[in-house]
Amino acid sequence: MLSSSTSPLHLALCCVTLLSLHFCAAVPTTKVGFGYRLVSIEENRNGGGLIGHLQLKQSTSAYGPDIPHLRLFVKHETKDRLRVHITDAEEGRWEVPYNLLPREQPPPLGSKASTTPFTASEYAGDELIFSYTSDPFTFAVKRKANEQTLFDSSCGTIVFKDQYLEISTHLPKTASLYGLGENTQPGGIRLRPSDPYTLYTTDISAINLNSDLYGSHPVYMDLRNEGGEAAAHAVLLLNSNGMDVLYTGTELTYKVIGGVLDFYFFAGPSPLAVVDQYTALIGRPAPMPYWALGFHQCRWGYKNLSVVEGVVEGYKKARIPLDVIWNDDDHMDAAKDFTLDPVNYPRPKLLDFLSRIHSQGMKYIVLIDPGIAVNSSYGVYQRGMAKDVFIKYEGKPYLAQVWPGPVYFPDYLNPNGVAWWVDEIARFHELVPVDGLWIDMNEASNFCTGKCELPANQSCPVPGSKTPWICCLDCKNITNTRWDDPPYKINASGSQAPLGSKTIATSATHYGGILEYNAHSLYGFSQAIATHEALQGLQGKRPFILSRSTFVGSGAYAAHWTGDNKGNWVNLRYSISTVLNFGLFGMPMVGSDICGFYPAPTEELCNRWIQLGAFYPFSRDHANFASPRQELYVWDSVAKSARNALGMRYKLLPYLYTLNYEAHTSGAPMARAVFFSFPNFTASYGLSTQFLLGSSVMVSPVLNKAKTKVKAMFPPGTWYNLFDMTKAVISKDERYITLDAPLNEINVHVYQNTILPMQRGGMISKEARATPFTLIVSFPFGAAEGDARGSVYVDDDERPEMKLVDGESSYIEFYASLREKTTVTVWSQVEMGRFSLQKGLLIEKVRVLGLKGSGQALVIEVDGEASADASGAYIAETSPMHQEKVEGGNSRSS
Ligand code: NOJ
Repeated sequence: MLSSSTSPLHLALCCVTLLSLHFCAAVPTTKVGFGYRLVSIEENRNGGGLIGHLQLKQSTSAYGPDIPHLRLFVKHETKDRLRVHITDAEEGRWEVPYNLLPREQPPPLGSKASTTPFTASEYAGDELIFSYTSDPFTFAVKRKANEQTLFDSSCGTIVFKDQYLEISTHLPKTASLYGLGENTQPGGIRLRPSDPYTLYTTDISAINLNSDLYGSHPVYMDLRNEGGEAAAHAVLLLNSNGMDVLYTGTELTYKVIGGVLDFYFFAGPSPLAVVDQYTALIGRPAPMPYWALGFHQCRWGYKNLSVVEGVVEGYKKARIPLDVIWNDDDHMDAAKDFTLDPVNYPRPKLLDFLSRIHSQGMKYIVLIDPGIAVNSSYGVYQRGMAKDVFIKYEGKPYLAQVWPGPVYFPDYLNPNGVAWWVDEIARFHELVPVDGLWIDMNEASNFCTGKCELPANQSCPVPGSKTPWICCLDCKNITNTRWDDPPYKINASGSQAPLGSKTIATSATHYGGILEYNAHSLYGFSQAIATHEALQGLQGKRPFILSRSTFVGSGAYAAHWTGDNKGNWVNLRYSISTVLNFGLFGMPMVGSDICGFYPAPTEELCNRWIQLGAFYPFSRDHANFASPRQELYVWDSVAKSARNALGMRYKLLPYLYTLNYEAHTSGAPMARAVFFSFPNFTASYGLSTQFLLGSSVMVSPVLNKAKTKVKAMFPPGTWYNLFDMTKAVISKDERYITLDAPLNEINVHVYQNTILPMQRGGMISKEARATPFTLIVSFPFGAAEGDARGSVYVDDDERPEMKLVDGESSYIEFYASLREKTTVTVWSQVEMGRFSLQKGLLIEKVRVLGLKGSGQALVIEVDGEASADASGAYIAETSPMHQEKVEGGNSRSS
């Protein structure tokens, strides 16, 4: 400690045969005679790009007739984004609707656009080059800077049928691929050759390995390190139809059952640039209210309001932070959306409870399902019927079964459906002033399959049934249409299950005759958009929505959790891969059910899970009614871990909120793979047991039973332990370091050259955010010279937008330099400083890490105002350093 405190510094200062060939070899193997021939290619004078026409060479015999003529449209839409769009030249085909995911439309088919012949074999943009061969037609995408081929379809044959599209690309062995979800990815974040990647939104619990899960994100990032220089790019196939993506390690093949080939290539070359470019197209991640970064408690089975009140009390008594209390469907009257159980959740008592918790700054969120109970005395149903908002089958609302029994599914592609939904949410908000909504079961999940009718002689669900999820409607499988029984069977549910299994029949129709077959994977996405519209208009505040089913673009509206996981050690581990994947998908607000959804976790597991879960961007404990209670105060040891880990989270809230701002403005994942900050550190390319929060906070959890040490990998440099800043890991190479991790502790380190904004923490985010700031300034240990930087974004999160507006938000960048071992200068650059001044945000402490030895005469100066020795306007400290106890590691002692 080098100086004492005076007044705090203001923050502002500061064919059968052909088609069975799933994979192509590393050398071009396009089957002679098959595929398409390019018959013309022209420059599009109005609007730019190239327009080409392709003609079928020879029909293939499986999966239906080939489409004879295709239209190719290629455009460098931005300097780092190339689009390649291939569709039927003669008839419009299903595509992801442009109003749902706004983007540039290709020129209309057969348009008399002014064109001039294009004679070159390459079409170059600023960063990417499109090249092609004419006969057969194949195309490649290269990086302009080094001519590296990123995508090359010449290793396969383009197949284009009404219900089957196929295209492949060759990949070099140096490519590490990430993305293509949602999938539990038991092999970790890096795609594993030969693992199946099937994309079709499905309600199967997340423990189902290697199968299609709740979301569909047909995008991958490819990271390569050739010649010591890492470069990343991404490829999106924007298509909502079901697909299998087969990856061998050197080839990747898409097998898609409809739509168009609409590829977007994002040049990167850094992983951060990739997500920036990707989210510039699909929509920036939604801004989160500050409180959403606090801790959330939920459970299916809080059977009455007193239980919920008891949970809030339990947290208070145990001194564990809690911001948000949730209800699953327990508050509902007979599982009907937008209702209250009059006995167990009587409205006057609920309103009283809400006004109490709201006055403390706590929030309340409830679940809704899309299935609307078919019940003629239920207002939501009556109004929906009157406005004709439900998905149809043979001209009538499609009958399905979910928790309330027989249900109809609203059609969120129908403008009337959206208006009705917005109105129902407004009505519900009048009834119960909820702070956010949880949209569950929106794949959509159906307990029945096929064409169903109400059972003739019994009610459904059977009264008193302990298994209301068993289908009790009278149902017949539908196999008479090519939509229900398509020629190519994707690996749905990991078993080539019929597409309509336990969901809406694929021959059902949406507004304007849109087939469920095409729009299936958009259901949760369209519901999130409608729900967002409802909350935004209603509260005039930033909406919070949690959605189980997601598609490309969902991140602009909602947060996500990884669904029904198991309370076991492998599921603890898998959660990291899914969380990191959703960061790539532009949906950074993501977490897993802490302690597991079912069955009962052990006390030890729950200790380790809250330690990890405290650092998920979305941190929520949730469990199934059949599991015993697992709130964090239930076990003393878990409560201790929670106080420790969540205590740190609450101190880091300004950092997390700033990460949310960065996500919203540039797509940067809040939780990210280590290679995001260290792209040349190839040892980390498959690292799935640790992750970074932002660019420089490393989380290294214990993921195994009965372990009190953790083997962790640290890119070279000094990493300071955030729980005890007098300790650090000094890493020199790529070896793992073994760190102590007693039962109640997790290792979280901050990297050198960082300025980390922290606050004092608290039991609720409202309280924590009013406390003074500390800046942690870290330099490489023992360095004579060094620089550090960091930033903080602040606003009052009352506005829907999260952007810099004078008087409503501020962004402060901090810089620090260390010179001659003893002189540290810290300064800040403030954008729109009025807000932070008005709010009186203060820095009370600057803590400098990495200065060797103690007791030296340091000069620490902040914004030229004060020095540590003199009458500084803050406390400045340096920490005496101890080496982390390291076994078999690569650290050196200090
Ligand atoms: C399924 C969800 O995944 C789970 O979290 C929820 O508890 C149940 N539905 C009941 O609503």
